[in-house]
Amino acid sequence: MPAPANKPPVSRAQLNACRRCTLWRDATQGVPGEGPGGARIMLVGEQPGSQEDLQGAPFVGPAGHLLDEALHKAGIDRNTVYMTNAVKHFKFELRGKRRLHKTPSQLEMEACGYWLEREIQRIDPLVIVALGATAARSVLGRKSVTLSAMMDEPVEHDGRLVLATYHPSFALRQTSEEARAATFERIVASLRRAARLERKRGA
Ligand code: URA
Repeated sequence: MPAPANKPPVSRAQLNACRRCTLWRDATQGVPGEGPGGARIMLVGEQPGSQEDLQGAPFVGPAGHLLDEALHKAGIDRNTVYMTNAVKHFKFELRGKRRLHKTPSQLEMEACGYWLEREIQRIDPLVIVALGATAARSVLGRKSVTLSAMMDEPVEHDGRLVLATYHPSFALRQTSEEARAATFERIVASLRRAARLERKRGA
């Protein structure tokens, strides 16, 4: 059943009390998903970045800004989608004063799968867009996925369509302007496809 608009499927307090793995120790706070209870599209990222960790909201840092641009170009209003992450605490290593992102382990992803599953069940989206391989593995509950295959063909999973695309951070990491633009356009194309699939499913 979709969550009532005013009650998030997973609260910050629940995430802050979570001891399913040890990532809570170094993170500032847990970062729950955000978006309307009746969202028909859910976007799943990997884990909060440094800005998200500080602000307590998903996709508010550089990757989030690029994602906002991609959503805009795809004709999707950010306020209509539910955005969350496979892992709810920021995992990083310190380099001097900088907190550098570290990919979550399989165990951390599995531990946090409890919260992601809860969000999926409560929001009940028609289409899930996994941003990157970590998100795709978490959403599908698989140890490995082939991102390129999932970008070309959405997968039916528990009665929903799951499609994957590049993570916006991957676009930001590209060293040439051309590669960055091509990666961005691929994300936009995937989001457009998600919107088309959602309209078809919801019709
Ligand atoms: N990267 C993610 O995967 N999620 C965020 O919320 C921010 C950056």
